[in-house]
Amino acid sequence: MSMKLPFFKKKQNDINSQCDIEEKNIPKHVAIIMDGNGRWAKKRGLPRIAGHKEGMNVVKEIVKAARNNHVEILTLYAFSTENWKRPKTEVDFLMRLPKEFLHIYLPELIENNVRIDTIGNFTDLPNHTKEAIQYAKDKTKNNNGLLLNFALNYGSRFEIMRAIKEITMDIDCSKLSIDALDEKVFSEYLYTTGLRDPDLLIRTSGEQRLSNFLLWQVAYSEFWFTDVLWPDFNEEIFREALHDYQQRKRRYGGI
Ligand code: IPE
Ligand code: IPE
Ligand code: MG
Repeated sequence: MSMKLPFFKKKQNDINSQCDIEEKNIPKHVAIIMDGNGRWAKKRGLPRIAGHKEGMNVVKEIVKAARNNHVEILTLYAFSTENWKRPKTEVDFLMRLPKEFLHIYLPELIENNVRIDTIGNFTDLPNHTKEAIQYAKDKTKNNNGLLLNFALNYGSRFEIMRAIKEITMDIDCSKLSIDALDEKVFSEYLYTTGLRDPDLLIRTSGEQRLSNFLLWQVAYSEFWFTDVLWPDFNEEIFREALHDYQQRKRRYGGI
């Protein structure tokens, strides 16, 4: 019999999840495509940005859930390289959200030893977005608890192209030899350098596609989809995903 984590001894009024999570076999790296904010707002007759705002509060809840459940890395898809196609007012709102999120939650994240980082094309973000995030990265850089990794202005094809260009330049100036290039070295040229691949990938809102997220890194991740829209996502559903993950057999091509 495996030990149950003390956290899962429920008090009354605690989240009423039916799912027992075993201490062993926790997905160490969970990546989430947080989708459905717009539809959540539309269903309520609200502007799409109301869904993004609500979604921001869910991020906080899921960070806490990840910590409680001993997840080590939480990668959240917050803005894709394709999301620039949206109306300017929505994009502007999304670019202000990190600052608002950090203004409210950074003290608590620091207190809880969370380290904040990003993957994606950071350079091309608006200055005010970059400044707020850079401040949070600097403030949390020595924390060694949960890594909260925002994929912001992230696109997997861009990431792979960028890696190829850098590899080519390094080969050109003899910093790297073609013979030394293997999957491990290639991975080091991606934004996710040094991070283990996601063990579990969750997507909300019923869509079952990757939308240019971590194409290389999810080669052997377990996928978990839910129809729940991101603003309705919560710790109980997160725990369902963890529980389901624990029933899977990861074979990696073996038997
Ligand atoms: C996800 O929600 C958030 C971002 C992509 C920034 P959406 O805004 O995509 O919501 P839907 O899919 O239109 O409902
Ligand atoms: C993926 O969601 C990007 C984020 C969640 C940030 P989208 O809503 O942009 O994806 P598509 O357009 O439905 O594939
Ligand atoms: Mg969407």
